[in-house]
Amino acid sequence: MRVTVNSCESSSCKHIIHNSASCLLRLLLLAELFVHSWSRPTSSPYLCKHFASMITKVEELTKLSKKLHELSDNVLATFAGVENRLDGLPNIKQNAEYFNSLQVNVSLSELYGYTQSFKLHVDWLKTVKENHTLSTQSSSNASTYLLQLSNQLNASLQQISAEVPQSPTPSSLPVVSTAFDELQFSVEISTRLQVFCSWTKRVLKFLQKLSRCHRH
Ligand SMILES: *[C@@H]1O[C@H](CO)[C@@H](O)[C@H](O)[C@H]1NC(C)=O
Ligand SMILES: *[C@@H]1O[C@H](CO)[C@@H](O)[C@H](O)[C@H]1NC(C)=O
Ligand SMILES: *[C@@H]1O[C@H](CO)[C@@H](O)[C@H](O)[C@H]1NC(C)=O
Ligand SMILES: *[C@@H]1O[C@H](CO)[C@@H](O)[C@H](O)[C@H]1NC(C)=O
Repeated sequence: MRVTVNSCESSSCKHIIHNSASCLLRLLLLAELFVHSWSRPTSSPYLCKHFASMITKVEELTKLSKKLHELSDNVLATFAGVENRLDGLPNIKQNAEYFNSLQVNVSLSELYGYTQSFKLHVDWLKTVKENHTLSTQSSSNASTYLLQLSNQLNASLQQISAEVPQSPTPSSLPVVSTAFDELQFSVEISTRLQVFCSWTKRVLKFLQKLSRCHRH
């Protein structure tokens, strides 16, 4: 194109270039349209339904996770900086980079693994609370949501024919002998569950976008 422009001076010639340029532009637009409609996955109503329902569950779970202990914000602040002791819980590193290379199957499978791990720990916390004759309602309810979430992640993985990862083997969880220990573990699980929830919600919203769930 540039070669022609340099060697062209007459107005009729400019007219031809103008025409061919707009023609080329139209071709490019067409090609882009074609590539888009061809390579983009079509939205799956089944997956989209699951994504929306999982987001609702995660929102409920966020509320519940704050109730795993009954501390006021002031008292809770004194726990800030206390070292994490539950090595089996996933360390979720939130970063924007993640979304650049995100694959639906990899993400769903990762979320499934995280959910299983949190369920394991929340069930354990429930036993700890039982042993200390404390109310187990919040951990019980959180466990139910985690189970539902895990079932939906499983169903979504089946839908895209991805492999469902093995459930984590229960790592040795500590024996909790004092009420203070119980409190500390409740705070740790509560805090880390909240991180998990906010991360999961972000990922699910991104998957909705990626799967074009809002286009109808
Ligand atoms: C995800 O899918 C890609 C291809 O679509 C495949 O190469 C990759 O192995 C899959 N990963 C998992 C964890 O299933
Ligand atoms: C747990 O679930 C039951 C039944 O859905 C509900 O009545 C109760 O208020 C919930 N408890 C908490 C702490 O969320
Ligand atoms: C996942 O779903 C499949 C099919 O619905 C079921 O057969 C399987 O038991 C489920 N796996 C788990 C771990 O729940
Ligand atoms: C609960 O108490 C029983 C009996 O004292 C004990 O064997 C078990 O390890 C305790 N569970 C937890 C999670 O601390």
